[in-house]
Amino acid sequence: MSEAVDNDLRNLDYEPDPYKVALESLDPAQPALFFHAAEGPYFDRLRAEDPVHLTPDNEEFGRYWSVTRYEDIKYVDMHHEIFSSEGGITISDQDEDFTLPMFIAMDPPKHDEQRKVVAPVAGPRNLATLEPTIREHVCEILDSLPIGETFNWVDRVSIELTTRMLATLFDFPFEERRKLTRWSDVATAAPGTGIVESEDQRRAELLECLEFFTGLWQERASRKEPGNDLISMLAHGQSTRDMLNRPMEYLGNLVLLIVGGNDTTRNSLSAGVLALNQNPDQYDKLRANPDLIPNMVSEIIRWQTPLAHMRRLALQDTELAGKQIKKGEKVVMWYVSGNRDPEVFDDPNAFIIDRPNARKHMSFGFGIHRCMGNRVGEMQLRIAWEEILKRYQKVEVVGEPVRNYSVFVHGYTELPVRLIGK
Ligand code: HEM
Repeated sequence: MSEAVDNDLRNLDYEPDPYKVALESLDPAQPALFFHAAEGPYFDRLRAEDPVHLTPDNEEFGRYWSVTRYEDIKYVDMHHEIFSSEGGITISDQDEDFTLPMFIAMDPPKHDEQRKVVAPVAGPRNLATLEPTIREHVCEILDSLPIGETFNWVDRVSIELTTRMLATLFDFPFEERRKLTRWSDVATAAPGTGIVESEDQRRAELLECLEFFTGLWQERASRKEPGNDLISMLAHGQSTRDMLNRPMEYLGNLVLLIVGGNDTTRNSLSAGVLALNQNPDQYDKLRANPDLIPNMVSEIIRWQTPLAHMRRLALQDTELAGKQIKKGEKVVMWYVSGNRDPEVFDDPNAFIIDRPNARKHMSFGFGIHRCMGNRVGEMQLRIAWEEILKRYQKVEVVGEPVRNYSVFVHGYTELPVRLIGK
């Protein structure tokens, strides 16, 4: 991030104390809150006082409902016949002249048909094949890191690892893999916040992504034996093989797979380092018992909630926790709040690597859209921590993290660290 943009974001106005705002004016969809890690108290207040809450006029996102308690969020996610994903799954509306259809933003039957085609990439058979490849990449990345010097963990480890993983899933030309990182960042960026200058630039770069992947599609479609990669699956799948005739739908699904597989795991890998540094007793516990890694991975994903929300549109007038939601209104499921619901998680703000119900977290959602790549994400994190523990006494955080300026992608752009060898 450039220094000027960085300073602009740091100086943005926000009110850290939600109790200084009238309840009816409380509006959690403020990127500045998330940038400063100040969103928690807003959601604590909403869960306690107004768990299904209407914001009538957010400057950027318009009128929307916030659903903040675990059980209510789960209810919305499980009822796709009332709460539709059609038209977009983030709080911001898609531009009408640049719509990217993708199966996460579709309802049945089209959603189910398209998901079925690509789901095997994250299925048990492919997972077993992927494990040694992931471990190889993890070892190569970790072995290239300097001991005792400060560097940005996000770039050298989190981004590099998840980008390699994505390149493997797409069978993407390996040397050009950072294109995937760029497209992932561009897809979710707000113009003027350090990644792209304007909406025009964003669109132009996404169209370059489409052009590149069109070449890959043509090459994969021409093969008699379909490969085991995502593009081959789409190019040969019964309900997707004509998708190239609908280029924006191809681009939309690419963006889904790129962002889905990239930002989320990336931010979990950075979050683990930060959480262990903020909780040295948990780091000691982990060093003493590496068997806790799988449970810790779930706790990291709960604690971080890499995607802060998913949104739906009400298909009919309906009632939720005593509130009347009208047909057509936006309903935002704040996973980041459900994961801190004290009704479900004791001492919810604490990071506890052996928390008994960590796996109950809602970071992967529920219902028909439940994360397709959750096992792939978990596997990457497990292997990364297994190999980190073998090599270093500590990954020490030596400066302030820089967070994403976003109410959707909940993560980090910088995390300065220093490695302490064994
Ligand atoms: C820690 C890592 C990850 C997190 C936190 C995460 C989170 C999510 C969430 C919240 C959803 C929507 C759930 C809902 O609406 O109910 C989702 C869907 C999805 N994720 Fe992930 N994800 C992760 C990793 C991955 C990976 C590695 C991939 C690809 C290999 C992936 C691919 C997808 C896809 C394709 C969908 C759409 C599913 C559908 O609409 O049927 N995700 N993910």
